[in-house]
Formats: sequence, C-alpha cells, structure tokens
Amino acid sequence: MFDSGFGGLTVARSLIDLLPHEHLVYVGDTGRYPYGPRPAHEVLGFATEIGDHLTTAVGCKMLVVACNTAASVAMTALTERSGVPVVGVLEPGMRAAAKASRNGRVGIIGTVGTIGSGAYQELARAMAPEVEVTCAACPGFVEFVERGETDGDQVHVLAERLLAPLREAEVDTVLLGCTHYPYLARTIGDVMGRDVVLVSSADETAFDVRALIDRLGIGRPSTAPAPRHRWLSSGDVDWFVEMGQRLLGPELDSAETLDLSPPPTSPPDGAW
Ligand code: DGL
Repeated sequence: MFDSGFGGLTVARSLIDLLPHEHLVYVGDTGRYPYGPRPAHEVLGFATEIGDHLTTAVGCKMLVVACNTAASVAMTALTERSGVPVVGVLEPGMRAAAKASRNGRVGIIGTVGTIGSGAYQELARAMAPEVEVTCAACPGFVEFVERGETDGDQVHVLAERLLAPLREAEVDTVLLGCTHYPYLARTIGDVMGRDVVLVSSADETAFDVRALIDRLGIGRPSTAPAPRHRWLSSGDVDWFVEMGQRLLGPELDSAETLDLSPPPTSPPDGAW
C-alpha cells in the first residue's frame, strides 16, 4: 500500500485491525509529498513507479492505493500494469457516504488534485445519482497533519473557511476524501456540527480489502507465523518513525529508506 506520506496510515491502521494475519508493506512517499497540488501526470508517474516497486521488487499479492489523489488519476494504469488486484479509496468511501446520508446531501472534501480531477463527481453520478454532492478542496489540511498539528486554533480557522460551502449546502454527511483527514476529524466535526456524519474512506477501504481477500481465497491462514509489517519512506526515516508511531501506534517501530532503483529481473527469494 502507498500514500504520499502519513495519511495512508489511517488505512493501514484499519487493515492491521481487520486483517491481523496479513503481511503489510507501506510506502509513504514523504520525500515527494504533497501530491495534492501537483499536476495529474506527475502523480500518475509517482503512483506507477511505487506500484511497480511493490508488485515487482517486493512481490506483493495486492495493491492498496491509500491516497485519494493518486487513486483519482492512477487506478486504471495501476490495474492494467500490476497483475495483482488493486483497491483504491474512492469507491468504498463514496458508497458508504451515500448510504449514510439521510437528507441526500453529501459533502466531499479532498486535495486540490482529487477534487479538480472530477473523479468523485463522476463516481457520485454513477453510483448515487439521487445524492446531491457538494465538493470542496481543502488546501492546507494535509500540511497540518504532516506537521503533527491535528487540532488547535489555526487549523480550526482554516476549516471554518474551507468547509463553509458544505455548511451552506446543509449536507448531513461529509466524506473525508483524503486519507490524511481522519486525523482532523475532531476539528472537522466541530466546524460541521454534531449532527453531521463523517465518513472515513480509510475504514471503508479496509472492509473492501478484506472482502476481496476472502472472495479470492488469498488470505494468510491464522496458524501462519506472525505477519511482518514493513514501513518504507522516501524522506526522513527517523521523522517517519517518530510521527508515524504517534499516528498509527506501536506497530510502526522502525522504517526503511525506499529504494526505487530498478528491480532485479525476478523477485528476490522469500518475496511477499
Ligand atoms: N493522503 C492523500 C490523499 O488521500 C494526499 C495528501 C497529499 O496532498 O499528498 O489524497
């Protein structure tokens, strides 16, 4: 699985809890984060590079795109080239948000890249045409999370401004269409009000991954040796451990530098 940084750890947490016997390899592309403001072709390039690494060099049996910005532009390419099942975060979140809404008005928030790509708008039309969707890009939210500032006055003031269109539209459900945003749930909840349901694409994606693994019969048996969790970062590895452990928990006790040099022609022995 991969994300531009720490956001995908919300999905990793859910996956570890739901699938305690599975190996997990997480790539946080912190050296090139944020993806949100970058042009689509650049994000597509990063996503395919990391996807190729995880499937070819590491030998993963499934790929989870734990980043809405990457999933908005790269799902087709990743599915075509990877040779393994690929799960993204958009569809599971959209489905859950449409189901949760009582008044049929759903707000979707994400990075500039995600909202600008139109991927959620298209998905909403296809999956839930009866739902009225209000989208808002939230530039700045990801930066607060990556700095570890998940609450406080500054992020609250920013949230008041960015979420104003959703309040005006009287949405009763907000889809957190960026895997970083669950870390800001308290602030977003305070601004939107108690009656508004926040849907995390992280949890919903983990449920989809579990269902797919069960359906394909590719799960590790519960009697197998304890699973390994590997954490790879393209940026400062010490910071990745320090910050990542605060966000994810004790499983993130060490990290490796992501090496994207060309893979060997066949997967290394014991690849998984
Ligand atoms: N966590 C990513 C997402 O879900 C994006 C963060 C970024 O801008 O890099 O969209």
